Amino acid sequence: METLETIRKRASLKNRLSSREIEPAKIAMVLDAARLAPSARNQQPWRFIVVQGKENVEKVVKKAFFEFSQDFKGAPVLIFACANPRDDVTHDGQEYYLFDVGLAFENLLLAATDLGLVTHPMVSVKEDALREVLNIPDGVRFIAATPLSYPDKGSYDEAARERLNGRVRKSVSEIAYYQRWGTPFETALGV
Ligand SMILES: Cc1cc2nc3c(=O)[nH]c(=O)nc-3n(C[C@H](O)[C@H](O)[C@H](O)COP(=O)(O)O)c2cc1C
Repeated sequence: METLETIRKRASLKNRLSSREIEPAKIAMVLDAARLAPSARNQQPWRFIVVQGKENVEKVVKKAFFEFSQDFKGAPVLIFACANPRDDVTHDGQEYYLFDVGLAFENLLLAATDLGLVTHPMVSVKEDALREVLNIPDGVRFIAATPLSYPDKGSYDEAARERLNGRVRKSVSEIAYYQRWGTPFETALGV
């Protein structure tokens, strides 16, 4: 897929997980994409924990996910993004570790989409329970997780179609200004 096509096709698809195993090379590819993200002063504060295998995934989800997220148990792989805020820079009092990990995480999601794998960013976990079950050290914060899965049936495009058809996004002119704050950037793209 071309980059723009991949961006357009990425969707959160927690309802389309399958138990089919993911090849280690594909896990390595999405982590490699994550690691290539830019970061403030190149601090690369991100750390990832890969949980693989039915038993291991089920244990984490059971212990650290809320009732409404128990469906993630069906994933063959879960990836957890973490960071220690002290490993990154602040600028004008603003912390950048969340921004940097976000950039890496989006790279990961896009790489997975490009490989035809299903993802779904999520943050609502019980952090204390997660720290315990994944042995996350003091000072390191959990930031976001995603399953990595083949679609339950059919191709990625088929699995994503319904979600993409229902996608709700603000238009460019609602989110971008021209020359100064407040003047909508009018786009000819019709998006
Ligand atoms: C930071 C972040 C946190 C999220 N947390 C959750 C979550 O806890 N549970 C969930 O089901 N989805 C979660 N989502 C998925 C969003 O609901 C989803 O990205 C959004 O509705 C847009 O849909 P799309 O990703 O399919 O384009 C999260 C997404 C982001 C970026």
